[in-house]
Amino acid sequence: MTAPVVVILAAGQGTRMRSRTPKLLHPICGWPMIAWPVAAAKAAGAIKIVVVDAPGEPLRASLDDDVTVVVQEQALGTGHALRAASEHFGDGPVVALYGDVPLIRAETIASLVQAHESVDVVATVLAATLDDPSGYGRVVRDQQGNVLKIVETKKPGDATEEEMLIHEINTGMYVFDGALLGAALDQIGNQNVQGEYYLPDVLPILREGGRSIGASPLEDPLEIFNVNDRRALAAATVFAQRRINEAHMLAGATLISPESTVIDADVSLGEDVIIEPGTALHGFTSVGAGSTIGPHSTLHDVTVGNDSTVIHSYVSGVTIADEVTVGPFSYLRPGTELHDGAKAGAFVEIKNTEVGERSKVPHLSYIGDATIGEDCNIGASTITGNYDGYAKHRTKIGSRVHTSVDTTLVAPVELADDTYTGAGSVITEDVPEGALGIARPRQTNIAGYTAKALLRQTAGKTVQPVDKSSDSDHTRAD
Ligand code: UD1
Ligand code: CA
Repeated sequence: MTAPVVVILAAGQGTRMRSRTPKLLHPICGWPMIAWPVAAAKAAGAIKIVVVDAPGEPLRASLDDDVTVVVQEQALGTGHALRAASEHFGDGPVVALYGDVPLIRAETIASLVQAHESVDVVATVLAATLDDPSGYGRVVRDQQGNVLKIVETKKPGDATEEEMLIHEINTGMYVFDGALLGAALDQIGNQNVQGEYYLPDVLPILREGGRSIGASPLEDPLEIFNVNDRRALAAATVFAQRRINEAHMLAGATLISPESTVIDADVSLGEDVIIEPGTALHGFTSVGAGSTIGPHSTLHDVTVGNDSTVIHSYVSGVTIADEVTVGPFSYLRPGTELHDGAKAGAFVEIKNTEVGERSKVPHLSYIGDATIGEDCNIGASTITGNYDGYAKHRTKIGSRVHTSVDTTLVAPVELADDTYTGAGSVITEDVPEGALGIARPRQTNIAGYTAKALLRQTAGKTVQPVDKSSDSDHTRAD
């Protein structure tokens, strides 16, 4: 197969999305819609990918640098759009795709090019036979079955009544001989019902040289699913998600409930990963072999090592090593690293903090801007006061440190190796190696308090008897 130039038409308005965001930048499984046909073209071995963008180039910033962008100054039709890319046609095959048809597969593009090259044709249409062909252009053939042309059916007038009965439709995707395409596109007119330059009108022009047009059948009509509004966006997302999830299952991950599992296109999963129901893996998240994520966990750009678990938690921008346990109900924020065997437990928030090997933050804590060494136990309700209203400060915790419950660490502060803190301490000064830091008022016990209080109450009553005739709130409250 000769590597094709792939042109993706993407200059349409997308008004039916009713959005401030251009249609092709709406995401499907973590990628903007336009990235889907681009990825398919790349995987099909395209030598060059050209995106036909609208004026102002709204798509350029979301495309990889190796994608060429050309501008169609006015949306005058699909034929006019492809012509905007004509300087990039070589002598080899040129494939035309649509930006708003995101589910086209690389294999389909490659086999379309192969079909085109295996016979002597000047263009090959990707065609499909549909039970309901309404809205699509129809493939018109002669008695011998040769493709003559494609007629449009969107508005009455372009197609005859007889042509309206044809069930073979134009998917809108084609391969052309690059050497002849540019000149043929120059000859298309716009004398039709919509006053547009129709790309399919290039086919009869190409045939004028005595050459033939091929038609290659599309097997799965899902691949031409066209997104024009948000209902279709949701449906395309379901289909794309199903593809992603099935690929992970075939590669050795268990998805307990694939329908309730969201996995973005760039996520990678190791062997024997288990994804429990209600889990969403976003961005560049990767999960190592044997780890279990969920139920009900959300991970954004998280690296998880092997044999770790993340249960009922929200985790973003975090590195989790091997045999780590997270949750239930942990909130882990960017810059956090949990080393091998570490634990972040229930109702724990950790931000921009390194938790050393086998160290545990099991319950009800906020740890921000801290470094924790190895084999520490951070007691329930240990809180770092990392912000003094002006700047963030770091808390340094050595190895084998045990903070007791309800410890407040007012940063900047350091707990050296092998230290302890007393329950309820507000630690404002460094605790040296091997020491116990206690910082709380000493307890005073007042002996006989209860009896004295009782005595006072009775005495009070005889001096100031309750006025039963008064029903004011004040009296009752006394
Ligand atoms: C087109 C085909 C039709 C085919 C159908 C399959 C034409 C005239 N008709 O119809 O035979 O059955 O696709 O879906 O080609 N675009 C531009 N610039 C333009 C016009 C369109 O970039 O000036 C882009 C749009 O963003 C869109 C795509 O081309 O992604 C298709 O255009 P559209 O006008 O929707 O064509 P259809 O009527 O669907
Ligand atoms: Ca369309």
